Amino acid sequence: MISVQIAKQSFWDTAADGYLFLLNENLDGLAQIQEHYPNLEAILEKNQYTGKKGQCVVLTGERDGSLVQFIFVGLGKQEGSWHDELEYLRRNFACLLQRSKKLKITNAVFEVPDAGIYNIDAPELIKQLTLTAHMADYEFTAFKSKQKQEHEITLHLAMDDASGSDAVAVGEIIGRATTHTRSLADTPPNVATPSYLAERAQEIAKRYKLKLTIIEREEALKMGMGGFCAVDAGSDQDGKFLVLEYNAPKAKKTIAVVGKGVTFDSGGLSLKPAAYMTGMKYDMSGAAATLGILSVVGELKPNVNVVGIMPCVENLPSGSSSKQDEVATFLNGKTAEIENTDAEGRLILADALVYAEQNFSPDVIIDLATLTGACVISLGHTFTGLMTRDDELAQTLGDLGLKTGDRNWRLPLHDDYKPAIKSAVADITNSGRRDYGAGSITGALFLENFVEKTPWAHLDIAGTADGVHGVNYLGKGATAAGVRIMVEYILTQAK
Ligand code: BES
Ligand code: ZN
Ligand code: ZN
Repeated sequence: MISVQIAKQSFWDTAADGYLFLLNENLDGLAQIQEHYPNLEAILEKNQYTGKKGQCVVLTGERDGSLVQFIFVGLGKQEGSWHDELEYLRRNFACLLQRSKKLKITNAVFEVPDAGIYNIDAPELIKQLTLTAHMADYEFTAFKSKQKQEHEITLHLAMDDASGSDAVAVGEIIGRATTHTRSLADTPPNVATPSYLAERAQEIAKRYKLKLTIIEREEALKMGMGGFCAVDAGSDQDGKFLVLEYNAPKAKKTIAVVGKGVTFDSGGLSLKPAAYMTGMKYDMSGAAATLGILSVVGELKPNVNVVGIMPCVENLPSGSSSKQDEVATFLNGKTAEIENTDAEGRLILADALVYAEQNFSPDVIIDLATLTGACVISLGHTFTGLMTRDDELAQTLGDLGLKTGDRNWRLPLHDDYKPAIKSAVADITNSGRRDYGAGSITGALFLENFVEKTPWAHLDIAGTADGVHGVNYLGKGATAAGVRIMVEYILTQAK
């Protein structure tokens, strides 16, 4: 557990057992304690410290008769772009905190650096540091039989003036939402079923007084959600189509967030090979992110309406599963041939997109989905795939990705790929033709058939939702991809 607060005194006057430093190659950051430890530079040098990016040195010193730790992490030359340097700052800051945790430090103090080179203002930096502190602290231990005692650490952020507690509060709210989203996604699929997600949605609705609509499978069938029902058909677990609404009294705009909620994707009758099925509990990461986003919105109450739509199902093979060659009819009357039951995300999202547009007339729809393995091939685990026809929206989301660290890269949503989803028997087919390649784009082109007139962007988080390597504050499992960028998007739209 970490809690963050603004230090009441200066860096050195704050009573702590851990003093945290981020240093560039000139060791500028030592200035604040130079007068107390005049030979620190020489001591660091003796420890082979050069200030190289990510280099970490721990020293023990004495303060008022007790031992304290000094932790130094290098920032390097800081010659990169503002957004790369901001990302390295997050990681190096997370490194300081993770080191503090290992050393069982209970009160750590950190001097907030100058926001200037990061292209953001001081409150934004404080918000991001707070949120990163929460992300760095996340561990998924709920299913370990032996629970180790949780270490409690308080981080004191020192600054020249004592403003910034509002920014800390916002950072904590977003940080806690990322933790919530990650633990939902990390929860094993025998527990995190569609009903389980419905219960979590109920909790959020109750806590923040949001409106929740749960559409059960019989009703979905009656309504004509043929895509949702086709995927839901094979499972003993009832699918749940969740709609969570936040309405701001004076809002002029509505943002719809649609999240893929496949709580386990076996592929269905088009069964995945075992090695590809492992990890498919994460196929509900879009829905988990949507729940996190709505909880932030419920707590911060921005001046914009937000609706989260989460079709939640299990994709399993059984006697009642939908079959290859089957045709599904969606909520808008369009039809698709199910050539591959493993391309199930687009089937449930199709109904969700139609539902969003028909019921809320939103100003914008953004979907978050672990949609295609092809996205992992093209962008790996580093950038989310962004597909939209709307250049302005692409620009906005691109910039917010860089600012928040929840990054994306645009792929072309171009008509030339359209023949890949032509069908001989239905309007379209759910599996893009192999010889066209570009599986992420053909997946997005399928979805496009279900948005009539609303600006829409599709974020394929297949690679970024879990298993990201080399980013310490994202850990090993779920990452809450989509939460940071969407919260920021919503907050900017509320102004
Ligand atoms: N959930 C998967 C996509 C996925 C793959 C997410 C790997 C994360 C990691 C999705 O439902 C799927 O299986 N897509 C198929 C589509 C194909 C059959 C057209 C794919 O990507 O192979
Ligand atoms: Zn699938
Ligand atoms: Zn899937």
